[in-house]
Amino acid sequence: MRVIESISEMRAVSRKARAEGNRVGFVPTMGYLHEGHLSLVRKARQMADVVVVSVFVNPIQFGPGEDLDAYPRDFERDRDLCRNERVDVCFFPCVEEMFGSDHNVYIEEARLTKVLCGATRPTHFRGVMTVVAKLFNVVEPDIAVFGRKDAQQARIIECMVKDLNFGVQVVTAPIVREPDGLAMSSRNRYLSEAERKQAVCLYNGLCLAERLYGEGEVRTGPIREGMRRLIDEEAPLSVIDYIEAVDYESLRPVERVDRETLIALAVRIGKTRLIDNTVIG
Ligand code: PAF
Repeated sequence: MRVIESISEMRAVSRKARAEGNRVGFVPTMGYLHEGHLSLVRKARQMADVVVVSVFVNPIQFGPGEDLDAYPRDFERDRDLCRNERVDVCFFPCVEEMFGSDHNVYIEEARLTKVLCGATRPTHFRGVMTVVAKLFNVVEPDIAVFGRKDAQQARIIECMVKDLNFGVQVVTAPIVREPDGLAMSSRNRYLSEAERKQAVCLYNGLCLAERLYGEGEVRTGPIREGMRRLIDEEAPLSVIDYIEAVDYESLRPVERVDRETLIALAVRIGKTRLIDNTVIG
C-alpha cells in the first residue's frame, strides 16, 4: 500500500491506474477508522480494481465551537487497518496541501443542505461538498462509496455529482452497528460509560418506528411522537435535536409513509451529537 501526501502524486498515480484500464474506487474518510469505514472499503474493492482511501479531517465542515480539535486522530492505526484491507493507496494530505491560505471557493446547494442536520449546522454541508469535490478532482475516481449513516450527506453528494457533472458513480453502503444496535461512528469514543449505555436509544427509537409501521401506522406524526417518548424515557442524558420523516429523494417532510421514507434523527447524549436513520416504506 502506498501512502501519498501530495495532490500531484495522488493525481498521477490515479491517472496511471486508469490509463492501464483499472477502475478506481474511492472511500473518503476523516480517519479514526472503524468497521463502518472498512465495510465501505470492501464495497469499493468489490466494484473497482484499485482502491483509494483518503484520511483527512476537513476543517471547513466543522462550525465554530464544534469538535475540530477534539476529533479523534490516529493515522498509524488507520494506515494499518487500510493495509489489512488491501487498500492500494491511502491519501493523507495535510491541511496546507488541501487548503492554501488563499482558498476562497466553496460549493453551495440550495435545498437539501437546509434541512435535518443543515438546520443547526449551517455551513457543514458546504464544507463537505467543497472537500469532496476537491478530493474527486484529485483522485478522479470511477466510483465513490459513502455510508448510509450519513444519509443526508450521501443524497447531497449524489446531487452535487449530478448537477456539476462529475464523472463518478456514487454508491451508498448500509449502516454498520455495534452488537447492541448503536451505529458505528468515530464520535462514539467521546461517550462516557453511562452515555454509551443510553446512546442505544437512537437505534431503539428507529426500531420502534419500524415496528409501528409494520403494525400498520403510516402517519409520521404518531411515529415521531412515539420515538420522542421512548428516547426521553430511556435516555435522561439525551437532548433531541430532531426526529424527522422525509422523502428519501427530496428530503422534504412527509405526513404519511406512502413512499420510501427516511426516518432520521440527531440526539445529543451529553456533549456528543449522534445521528442515525432508517428507511421505511
Ligand atoms: O463522512 C465523512 O467522514 C466526511 O464528511 C467526508 C465525506 C470524508 C468529507 O470530509
